[in-house]
Amino acid sequence: MDAISVIRAKRDGSRLTDAQIDWIIDAYTRGEVADEQMSALAMAIFLNGMDRAEIARWTAAMIASGERMDFSSLPRPTADKHSTGGVGDKITLPLAPLVAACGAAVPQLSGRGLGHTGGTLDKLESIPGWRAQLTNGDMLAVLRDVGSVICAAGEGLARADKKLYALRDVTGTVESIPLIASSIMSKKIAEGTGSLVLDVKVGSGAFMKDIDSARELATTMVGLGNDHGVRTTALLTDMSTPLGRTAGNALEVRESVEVLAGGGPADVVELTLALAREMLDAAGLKDADPTKALADGTAMDHWRRMVAAQGGDPDAPLPVAREQHVLRAESTGVLARLDAYAVGLAAWRLGAGRARKEDPVQAGAGVELHAKPGDHVTTGQPLLTLHTDTPSTFAYALEALDGAIGYAPANTEHTATPIVLDRIAQG
Ligand code: URA
Repeated sequence: MDAISVIRAKRDGSRLTDAQIDWIIDAYTRGEVADEQMSALAMAIFLNGMDRAEIARWTAAMIASGERMDFSSLPRPTADKHSTGGVGDKITLPLAPLVAACGAAVPQLSGRGLGHTGGTLDKLESIPGWRAQLTNGDMLAVLRDVGSVICAAGEGLARADKKLYALRDVTGTVESIPLIASSIMSKKIAEGTGSLVLDVKVGSGAFMKDIDSARELATTMVGLGNDHGVRTTALLTDMSTPLGRTAGNALEVRESVEVLAGGGPADVVELTLALAREMLDAAGLKDADPTKALADGTAMDHWRRMVAAQGGDPDAPLPVAREQHVLRAESTGVLARLDAYAVGLAAWRLGAGRARKEDPVQAGAGVELHAKPGDHVTTGQPLLTLHTDTPSTFAYALEALDGAIGYAPANTEHTATPIVLDRIAQG
């Protein structure tokens, strides 16, 4: 077997054989296939696709490239959630302790942000003392004691994906359904969860800009999960405008705590509860009542214990950016559009995100929304507050927001886009 014949086969539109897939993933993980060869193959896959059997085999080979975790010693059923990433998507923060409060174990292996979407670990690291890096033993201990844990995936999981994802990021080959589906699902299956709910985002702030491609991605991932014995469903959810009223690390933690305290923005609460019900259903806990656990403080109690178990102080004040700039409404009427991608890019430029994975992020930076699409606004009222420690970035962030905000006359009937657009239970 050699890399050139595998690349040529996919370049010329053939399907890869099981043997070719197993060989190339293994040889790439061991460093025998060079990055430039894998880049060429990733581009050939990006352009020519893979069929269902190829994606399944590719995913299995990526799982086999690393270790598999095992939570079968836990007394509770395991349930996990994965979001394909969006702007203001802080849902994991209230969701993990909420689902734990309802009786499931939630092993949430999360990532850092790259580009315009934030990363769950960056958000949690704005809590003084909180640690993302846990050994497998520590992770199991937190899961046993608290019921939920949010931490960084260890180096050993789906090792081929670690190398391949970094390569795709710099070769314009991220947005490929076979490559995204196999990347996400290899990590989730190797993680060893019994059930999984996928939150597949659709809209300007998401990888998938239209509902048909989101549906195809969701269906592919649901099929992969169920074929590997992980009960998997997906919700397609709106990402045309930011989720909630904040995008940025500490700003999003504050909003998540508001949700756990029984308040918070309606869209964040609605999506948290919708995903919690899906997770509890998939875990076989059909009688659990997440609305009650949110209202009576048990979810908040789990949050506090989870943060403390990872060294964080749930009572410590969260960092606040040194400088603020207020962007005001330019018109009176109904706010018709507030583009998710533009807000994500602005938050990133203010310092909430990173350009390279080694870059630091500012805990306090980000964008706060004072109005959401459908709200009535008047000329001069604050629409957005930009937060940063580096005021030289304001102009650059404002440039990102150029053309992102649309108004309609005051008497316009605004039909709100529902948060949950579709549900996929079959691959
Ligand atoms: N997240 C992943 O883990 N992999 C992808 O390919 C895209 C998003």
